[in-house]
Amino acid sequence: TELSKIRNFSIIAHIDHGKSTLADRLIQRTGGLSEREMSSQVLDNMDIEKERGITIKAQTVRLDWKGHVLNLMDTPGHVDFAYEVSRSLAACEGALLVVDAAQGVEAQTLANVYQSIEHDHEIIPVINKIDLPSAEPEKVRHEIEEIIGIDASNAVLASAKSGIGIEEILDAIVERIPAPKGDADAPLKAMLVDSWYDSYLGVVILVRVIDGTIKKGQQIKFMAAGTTHLIDRVGAFRPKIEQLPDLGPGEIGFITAQIKEVAQARVGDTLTDAKRPTPHALPGFKEVQPVVFCGLFPVDAADFEKLRESISRLRLNDASFSFEMETSAALGFGFRCGFLGLLHLEIIQERLTREYDLDLITTAPSVVYKIKLTHNNGEIELHNPADMPDPTKIEEIEEPWIQAVIYVPDEYLGSILKLCQERRGIQKNLTYVGGRAQVTYELPLNEVVFDFYDRLKSLSKGYASFDYEQIGHRAGDLVKMGILVNEEPVDALSMIVHRATAEVRGRGMVERLKELIPRHLFKIPIQAAIGGKVIARETISAMRKDVTAKCYGGDATRKRKLLEKQKKGKAKMREYGSVSIPQEAFIAALRMG
Ligand code: GTP
Repeated sequence: TELSKIRNFSIIAHIDHGKSTLADRLIQRTGGLSEREMSSQVLDNMDIEKERGITIKAQTVRLDWKGHVLNLMDTPGHVDFAYEVSRSLAACEGALLVVDAAQGVEAQTLANVYQSIEHDHEIIPVINKIDLPSAEPEKVRHEIEEIIGIDASNAVLASAKSGIGIEEILDAIVERIPAPKGDADAPLKAMLVDSWYDSYLGVVILVRVIDGTIKKGQQIKFMAAGTTHLIDRVGAFRPKIEQLPDLGPGEIGFITAQIKEVAQARVGDTLTDAKRPTPHALPGFKEVQPVVFCGLFPVDAADFEKLRESISRLRLNDASFSFEMETSAALGFGFRCGFLGLLHLEIIQERLTREYDLDLITTAPSVVYKIKLTHNNGEIELHNPADMPDPTKIEEIEEPWIQAVIYVPDEYLGSILKLCQERRGIQKNLTYVGGRAQVTYELPLNEVVFDFYDRLKSLSKGYASFDYEQIGHRAGDLVKMGILVNEEPVDALSMIVHRATAEVRGRGMVERLKELIPRHLFKIPIQAAIGGKVIARETISAMRKDVTAKCYGGDATRKRKLLEKQKKGKAKMREYGSVSIPQEAFIAALRMG
């Protein structure tokens, strides 16, 4: 395709503002799919994405509109996947900024819009959901101008749901977004925008060609990875697959090259011709590192091999999560896994449970600590509280910090500030923009990974939004808190906490465990301890014998049912110092309240 006829754009939107619905409309209007094929949202094609209503993997679609080729790049909508977002944006020249006419501008939108502005994008504001009775398009127009600082006088008023403003959006893309630049005669230079595993095609790689041409049969080199591959397919999604002879400068499309694992095709890498390579790789390549770690153990030890296989299979499609084998005194064999964030963790956990039918125990999530050892013995990175060195060998512990931007309506501000204070936050800035406060806080990541986001949402009835970036490690007064059940340490529940919050955390944990662990025939002490010092304690009183007697005294069927239930339940129990802890208790106990 001729450069002047190409338009590459992405859609920036806060979760739920209508990105997927709009994308579907654009595909439908440009004839990519029939009405019948549109029955379900096309771009969000994973079950979990659909259920949670969020986009996890970036996708792209090629649209034809009035003699032009429009490439729509879908971007993930969550802070955990910020790097992927940045690469998708780097592959475009413009963006639609979709803002809900009833909700207005939110923090997540802001973060992405600023990135888009940094990439010199032409931004077309789209005020969506104007069909809603609560829509206030004029107010939102002002918000876009005031908060984001871009001209919104020519914003398109739209309803993705009712199909209003769709052609206007397509025309605006052609008229306002600049065509890409590139040199067809220069050596091939293309950016690896995304990659995923397809059971039929193998690893599929989404590319944006900058210079030169990429074609079938070509030997290409991945510059960061240092590997070469033979291209066996080139094409585009409409959204159905269409094979093409080649992709020229400015074009977005896919290639396959018989690659087995996505780990070999890292987002942000530069592709070039192996025989005639470009002298300079594209800037901005970054190897994404997991930031949150936890142990995953099979409830039934016999499932270990199945877990290994399932994890390896998932890893084929997700290079950003890591795993290595781990053994725990209490939980047996499992894996220590690293994730980009808590949502990422939940997605993987859910897929293992649902798609691979595994019952899992997840240990307390932990961030990566840096530990300086005494006597100049160097520094270690700690991914697992269980591996914490002896306190006498520790000079200093450093924890990761983030800078968070929270957007919240005035009426909820008080409780949000309180939450941030409780989590050891340092307020950096507080400004008001049209009835909303924008608060900037520095927070230890450790205080955020558990339930910060949930608390934020519930305290603000869903109105607060949150975005963060990492700002490095800082020293802190951190200690390892262990949990003992019937005098036995439960390593899966140990965690690293700040000394100032240790008691509150410890108390909360033992209280929850008291509720969650069923009574036994004997008394069970539950303790939280730092080193040898108990900081919180609860006791589960013994079950009275006659209670059981009564319980099993009934008719035969009921008795049998009870026994069966008990047997089933047993498989999901773990024994600690002869105490059985139900699996749910772990999960519930780890949800900090
Ligand atoms: P993520 O994939 O999480 O980023 O969400 P999204 O921005 O893609 O939102 P999605 O398109 O899934 O829409 C969210 C909700 O808003 C859905 O229930 C849609 O049906 C609804 N919605 C989208 N557009 C409109 C619209 O123009 N009017 C109304 N009334 N509802 C809409």
